[in-house]
Amino acid sequence: MCGIVGGIAERNLTPILVEGLRRLEYRGYDSSGVALLANNELKRVRSIGKIAQLQEKIEAQSEAFIGSIGIAHTRWATHGIPAEENAHPHICNNRVAVVHNGIIENHVQLKTEQLAAGYRFTSQTDTEVIAHAIDQHLGKDNDSLLKAVQETVKQLDGAYALGVIAKDHDLLIATRCGSPLVIGVGIGEYFIASDVAALLPVTQKFIFLEEGDIAEIKRDQLTILDANGNVVEREETISNLSSQSVELGEHRHYMHKEIFEQPQSVIDTLQGRISGDSVLVSAFGHQAEEIFSKIEQVQIIACGTSYHAGLVAKYWFEDIIGMPCLVEVASEYRYRNPVIRPNTLLLTISQSGETADTLAALRSAKATQADLASLTICNVPESSLTRESDLVFLTHAGPEIGVASTKAFTTQLVALALFLTAMGRVQNRLSTGREKAIVAGLQKLPSLIQSALQHEAVIKDIAQQFADKGSALFLGRGTMYPIAMEGALKLKEISYIHAEAYPAGELKHGPLALIDDTIPVIAIAPKDELLEKLKSNLQEVKARGGQMIVFEDEDSNVNTDGDDLNVIKATTNVGRITAPITFNIPLQLLSYHVALIKGTDVDQPRNLAKSVTVE
Ligand code: G6P
Repeated sequence: MCGIVGGIAERNLTPILVEGLRRLEYRGYDSSGVALLANNELKRVRSIGKIAQLQEKIEAQSEAFIGSIGIAHTRWATHGIPAEENAHPHICNNRVAVVHNGIIENHVQLKTEQLAAGYRFTSQTDTEVIAHAIDQHLGKDNDSLLKAVQETVKQLDGAYALGVIAKDHDLLIATRCGSPLVIGVGIGEYFIASDVAALLPVTQKFIFLEEGDIAEIKRDQLTILDANGNVVEREETISNLSSQSVELGEHRHYMHKEIFEQPQSVIDTLQGRISGDSVLVSAFGHQAEEIFSKIEQVQIIACGTSYHAGLVAKYWFEDIIGMPCLVEVASEYRYRNPVIRPNTLLLTISQSGETADTLAALRSAKATQADLASLTICNVPESSLTRESDLVFLTHAGPEIGVASTKAFTTQLVALALFLTAMGRVQNRLSTGREKAIVAGLQKLPSLIQSALQHEAVIKDIAQQFADKGSALFLGRGTMYPIAMEGALKLKEISYIHAEAYPAGELKHGPLALIDDTIPVIAIAPKDELLEKLKSNLQEVKARGGQMIVFEDEDSNVNTDGDDLNVIKATTNVGRITAPITFNIPLQLLSYHVALIKGTDVDQPRNLAKSVTVE
């Protein structure tokens, strides 16, 4: 999704803005641009493609591209094709420059009015109306830029984070409503960005704007006004992320780095959440005990990979503590009229905490039922979801840069297991012995994951089989069904191979018709009570000439009958909670190595965004 960087300083901002854009690349984008106020003139460079292309264009400028007030942007096309004229910043009358993340829903109506007022449009974007509106409000007298932005946002319907600069105004304006924006605090300088990662090379001090806030930023003075126009103080926080934590190190791709960070991410997520053999209920917030004691049902809402984590949790909740658990994708939930039973806990799961549909689903559920209790499992502190939920559990995966989620998913599952255990204990739905066993399993996870990672070389070989394939089928039963869904999602996201997941028992109701020797079938076969049933399903595939790749437990012995299946003994001695988390690891590696063979852009796959902050 679109990313914003900006700043006001005493020094040249170009390298800082370009580096900031680089650090936002992971969000997904198709074009980029930067505008500076230099000698009181607006200068702009925009480019389609990668930041490296923007950098080349900047270096090719006949005059040095230097300025100490500036805004920059990565664009992920929503309104208007990826093209230079649609890239931000958008400039009106050589006076106002704007970068925008979000969607302005009433842009057609505003455009009609602005055309009638004599404004000319040079793009197909919804954003350009913002630049014109600010220019209109500045008027002939070139009034306060802050007031002009305040008046403009009153006219906007939809979501926005904005960075605004203007000729004759020695300041930067930033505002947000529905899209994230953070202010970085330097010494005699300030910066803005869509997330902290963009600014880590220049500061570790951040102020998170709240919904409707507008900031007037001068080199030596920051004034924040809330949605009602009152001056407010917003807390300054120090990020413990280091600039290096979002760098590649020895790895070729962030995805690879993040796959291999998973043992540590699990350790970090468990740290401080367990005491002896018990999960600390207070890890979910100081009201957790009271809220959990009243809950009769859990409603999970999420998107993408986070949704798959929710699907695994449904099996756990109903099976292990006998509590009803519903799971739904946020984009559906938000637009229907769900029946919310009394004493439901609404649980959102999100890596970013900014996914527009998940946030809107939480808001609409709360609007329907004001006393609805909410919990978010999220990886980003100070994100919108963490601020709008009653209870918060932060996964400590660390920054996840690869668009395809890996370590965030693993830590979400760990968080869900802790949640299940805490809820089970508060409501006496879990024996002490069972809790102890779950905790012991979670503590064993880092080494189970480490062992699973050691199969990389074999998986790399198997990936060769996918080089010329157009489709793949993933099969699993029980919790391995959502893991199969996650495996299929990973493969299609980064290798562009069409992949589907099916619960193995559904094979004969359709997908069996597809099976021939051109479609690899990937099955996940832990040693559990469904193993024999799964083996029969695999025979059905084999009998039709299907090419099978099986990830099994040491003791599963899928290959006993002399079947010539491709079997990888991925793990051993996994339990109900640890099995789905561990079996997911080889599937991540498989997608990664297939993508390498296909030569795709692993960390920034085409058309996808890391954080989907628009609908
Ligand atoms: C995008 C990302 C996925 C992610 C999903 C939900 O589609 O590419 O990796 O799972 O959004 O994001 P969230 O931040 O809410 O987990």
